[in-house]
Amino acid sequence: MNSVWSAECQIEKRIKLSRDIETDTVVIGAGMAGILTAFLLQEKGIKVVVVEGNEVASGMTKNTTAKITAQHNLIYSRLIKEIGLEKAKQYARANVAAIKRYKDIIDELNIDCHYEEMPAYVYSLRDKISILDETNAAISVGIDAEYTETVSLPFKVKAAVKFNNQAQFNPLEFISVVSKRLDIYEHTMVREVKDNVVITDNGNITARNIVVATHYPFINVPGYYFLRMYQKRSYVLALENVPLLDGMYKDESEKGYSFRNYKDYVIFGGEGHKTGEKRLESSYEKLRKAAKEIYPDSKEVYNWSAQDCTGLDEIPYIGRYSAKTPHMYVATGFNKWGMTSSMVSAMIISDMITEKENENADVFSPQRFNVTASAKNLYEQGKETVTSLMLKKLVIPSSDIEHVANNTGAIIEYEGHKVGVYKDGTGKAYFVSTTCTHLGCQLEWNPDELSWDCPCHGSRFDYEGNLINNPALVDLKKGE
Ligand SMILES: Cc1cc2nc3c(=O)[nH]c(=O)nc-3n(C[C@H](O)[C@H](O)[C@H](O)COP(=O)(O)OP(=O)(O)OC[C@H]3O[C@@H](n4cnc5c(N)ncnc54)[C@H](O)[C@@H]3O)c2cc1C
Ligand code: FES
Repeated sequence: MNSVWSAECQIEKRIKLSRDIETDTVVIGAGMAGILTAFLLQEKGIKVVVVEGNEVASGMTKNTTAKITAQHNLIYSRLIKEIGLEKAKQYARANVAAIKRYKDIIDELNIDCHYEEMPAYVYSLRDKISILDETNAAISVGIDAEYTETVSLPFKVKAAVKFNNQAQFNPLEFISVVSKRLDIYEHTMVREVKDNVVITDNGNITARNIVVATHYPFINVPGYYFLRMYQKRSYVLALENVPLLDGMYKDESEKGYSFRNYKDYVIFGGEGHKTGEKRLESSYEKLRKAAKEIYPDSKEVYNWSAQDCTGLDEIPYIGRYSAKTPHMYVATGFNKWGMTSSMVSAMIISDMITEKENENADVFSPQRFNVTASAKNLYEQGKETVTSLMLKKLVIPSSDIEHVANNTGAIIEYEGHKVGVYKDGTGKAYFVSTTCTHLGCQLEWNPDELSWDCPCHGSRFDYEGNLINNPALVDLKKGE
């Protein structure tokens, strides 16, 4: 189903690239990160082109819950412990500046995007100490935060930390205006980057600077992001006939829920899991049960889901793609906080390209880890596995799939290889190789969304084998 944002807002369509072009900077990916980076670069007088494999904001950005907040769960107490006060302050300053930048752009361009200033709360059902610690940590890094035990949720909490001056909006209404003045090519998938040339199916772009804003970076070497990020999916319902809230809320527990208002709806999210993880029960059904318990009179109007990338230390990777590529930049690893993180990326990367110092850049540097030489071997090995499996023809005898029920997906063994089968309501079967075309991991069936999902780095494919989400770049091998 569509998210409430895509149901209510259409963004102007753009043409495909159809020739070779040159520009100063090319941004790959037209989600929130790519659009904002291009927008800030253009404001600074840089000639910029955006290329998008699908359509503007058709990736995770259309399925976000769109809270604009520096409150990223209980992050500041953890950051101070793990990386020290100075870096934690950089993280906080960058996110507070990002919130302000959204407001400035919305005011300057007079954008009607249901922008509302709202406090954000992280609450706990079990523990006051961690909330108190986070409140003190947030205050120590310069955030306007307070401890409270009173919230407008329809259930009692032990305690909550409240951040003042946060915001919420409709992200597509915002992007539809901000992207208007940008030079964008849609349906132009980038297959490869060679030095300063971006190679697409429809033409090449030569540029001094390249920004990879593709959600999960698709260039495996250098950078090795596939060794340091995985993806997590979660689910959202828009509910009507429910009392509205005085703020945006999130449970500190991984198993808890997220809430915000939009018009007369409460947007209710949760039931997250690692992409590609085997589940015994439908995540949508679990979320619906929870919604009915909390809001017995509620009615579901929309449902949708999305996923986001998480790095090893749960801090985004923003800056140079690798030490070896001085003119290639990356924005990824937003850990479900990509509204402010996209703006942080745009501010840092546009400063780097225009050679302006940014006092908050260090904490996000993708070079904060050394990726070892063995990574290259791992990549070569994975690539070989995929290539050899892609070459093998997939023809499955019908006797092998008789036991698969209609409306069900399953993995069967055929000649020593795993083959994915999905039977639709009429019994028509669709076969795919369940070897991920990224680096060869074994895919899992996702019964909620009828897709084949990869537990390694989160690529997803529909039941016919067509690519839905990267880092893979090509469809699955299909069978007969
Ligand atoms: C359920 C859920 C709720 C969330 N709620 C919030 C929230 O309340 N607040 C918040 O701050 N964050 C939230 N997030 C996170 C946020 O939505 C994401 O971090 C953000 O939308 C990511 O934006 P992006 O531009 O990086 O990626 P995307 O929006 O996915 O954009 C990447 C684009 O790149 C394109 N692309 C990919 N590969 C190529 C290629 N090879 N060539 C050309 N184009 C390519 C894709 O088609 C896509 O359009 C949430 C995430 C989830 C999962
Ligand atoms: S996404 Fe990397 S192996 Fe599947």
